[in-house]
Amino acid sequence: MRQFSGKRILITGASGGLGSAVLQAFLDRQATVVAVGRTKHGDRTSGGVSWVSADLTTSAGALDAAREAGEVDVLVHLVGGFAAGGPVEKTTGEIWTRMLDLNLNSAFYMIRAVVPAMLQKRYGRIIAVSSRTGLDPAANLSAYGVSKAALNALIRTVALETKDSGITVNAVLPSVIDTPANRQAMPSADYARWVRPESIAATICWLASDEAADVNGALVPIYGRA
Ligand SMILES: NC(=O)c1ccc[n+]([C@@H]2O[C@H](COP(=O)([O-])OP(=O)(O)OC[C@H]3O[C@@H](n4cnc5c(N)ncnc54)[C@H](OP(=O)(O)O)[C@@H]3O)[C@@H](O)[C@H]2O)c1
Repeated sequence: MRQFSGKRILITGASGGLGSAVLQAFLDRQATVVAVGRTKHGDRTSGGVSWVSADLTTSAGALDAAREAGEVDVLVHLVGGFAAGGPVEKTTGEIWTRMLDLNLNSAFYMIRAVVPAMLQKRYGRIIAVSSRTGLDPAANLSAYGVSKAALNALIRTVALETKDSGITVNAVLPSVIDTPANRQAMPSADYARWVRPESIAATICWLASDEAADVNGALVPIYGRA
């Protein structure tokens, strides 16, 4: 498949449970990939991927990552994290701030860093990974749910702001993903009901394609049978 031949894709969180599948899906489709994580994964350039390390919960980190990546056609923003803080009155300030930093602020910083070049080129695809909890609140997950709901609002806002510029901005909303970390955390769950990372990766690739040029501001549920 040569779908993304000649396209430069920036994938944040590319080393994670979902990110590894997304990275592989774009490589399989002949993309040139710049992968960002907090820590170094692999050599600077290996297997068609350039690895950049940056802390994307800071504006400076996101700007550094975008500068190192160069002009990109697609941003896939996967960086995020999960913490169950308990009921609101027991949720610590540390958890609240960490969820907003990881799930919302990182997206704001990355989008802000790549949009100017996309506007100039009049082409771009931005896909963020949100969560079902961003649409359907869950008890004891206020920090996580609020951070993903705010991410949804950010995505829809940027979609409106860029809609006449050849740019599309969308999010996918998984339920539980079948990752090694989730299997370890929930050993007695029925994994077959969860969503496979490869299935999410395929949807992200489609949203990044020219075929999806008219899909903008969508929050796409990918729930499997969870
Ligand atoms: N897992 C699920 O069931 C589930 C369900 C719904 C939505 N999601 C969402 O899907 C996305 C991916 O989830 P996942 O389970 O694959 O996550 P994960 O395995 O924990 O991976 C997180 C990735 O983000 C990177 N990262 C973390 N903090 C960072 C920071 N401050 N700066 C730069 N990079 C950072 C990590 O890099 P390092 O390895 O270098 O730290 C890693 O590549 C997240 O947005 C998550 O909220 C997950």
